[in-house]
Amino acid sequence: MGRAKGTSSETYHPEPMKASAEAPSELAVFRHGHQTLVLADCFEWLAHAGPNSISAVVTDPPYGLIEYQPDQQRKLRAGRGGVWRIPPSFDGANRRPLPRFTILTKTDREGIVIFFERWARLLHPIVRPGAHVAIAGNPLVSPLVASAMERAGFERRGEIVRLVRTFRGGDRPKGAEEEFPEISSMPRACWEPWGLYRKPIETKTLAENLRKWGTGGLRRVSEDTPFLDVIESGTAPDVEREIAPHPSLKPQAFLRKLVRGLLPRGDGIVLDPFAGCASTLAACEALGVEGIGLEIDPTYYELGRTAIPGLSAPLPLRSI
Ligand SMILES: C[S@@+](CC[C@H](N)C(=O)[O-])C[C@H]1O[C@@H](n2cnc3c(N)ncnc32)[C@H](O)[C@@H]1O
Repeated sequence: MGRAKGTSSETYHPEPMKASAEAPSELAVFRHGHQTLVLADCFEWLAHAGPNSISAVVTDPPYGLIEYQPDQQRKLRAGRGGVWRIPPSFDGANRRPLPRFTILTKTDREGIVIFFERWARLLHPIVRPGAHVAIAGNPLVSPLVASAMERAGFERRGEIVRLVRTFRGGDRPKGAEEEFPEISSMPRACWEPWGLYRKPIETKTLAENLRKWGTGGLRRVSEDTPFLDVIESGTAPDVEREIAPHPSLKPQAFLRKLVRGLLPRGDGIVLDPFAGCASTLAACEALGVEGIGLEIDPTYYELGRTAIPGLSAPLPLRSI
């Protein structure tokens, strides 16, 4: 496993893609150490990837479906309008932009199920039997993803709770905050669910699957401690945000625990189909395992290219 260390930028046909008339023949690709970041629409890439080639998937997908569309990204980058909640700067600090999950309509919710079922059906053949898939969500949308994943043939294996205070939706009744100052419109989330799914094992026992494919179980935290479904986590620290200023950046400390846990035998290829600025790849690099990231937006792809070396440094990143 693994390639020679070093950083290079090139245009090539990534290894797990089968030669095919429909396969995109040229994709922008960045390599650093054991990582490969590809500028690609994951739906197209997955459709041509080699069967049973991926050992684990760790990903943080878009949910509003429109938040990462080009026109919304233009508005976000201009700091004006659009679906992103861009809090005003006050008490001298600029607030980070946040996606607005609470405005999803019934049609949006149906769209999420369709989006994830299509995605999961493309993913299913390319992951190994027993491969785990961890998908970041929030309490409002994770049940929709669960139903799509199950329909595509994945088994639900629980949920990893990332203990963190992230978005702040529906804090007070809109337009009536003064009239009902003692009322919250919904609970403030103090955790982030990561749905955990598995492609069913194809052998009689887990041990056989572990021997044949290297997948099916989760790597223990230690001899005495199994992999746990609650992981304490802050938001990404400022030093990581400076290296990788993506609005949905996930912290290295959390991602490294997840990547480690999802590779029970410590090797195999980890895929992040919605790579953002390649934080999952940075976690893979820190652990010395191979990762492939797909990112559709050229700006975030460029950010990922510059971010992987810095984000993959040993924790804490204070020395960078
Ligand atoms: C929620 S963000 C992930 C950010 C990531 N957690 C990080 O730490 O950088 C989702 C990313 O998926 C990308 N994306 C959306 N649709 C995509 C697609 N069809 N193929 C590949 N990437 C896509 C977006 O541009 C966005 O950067």
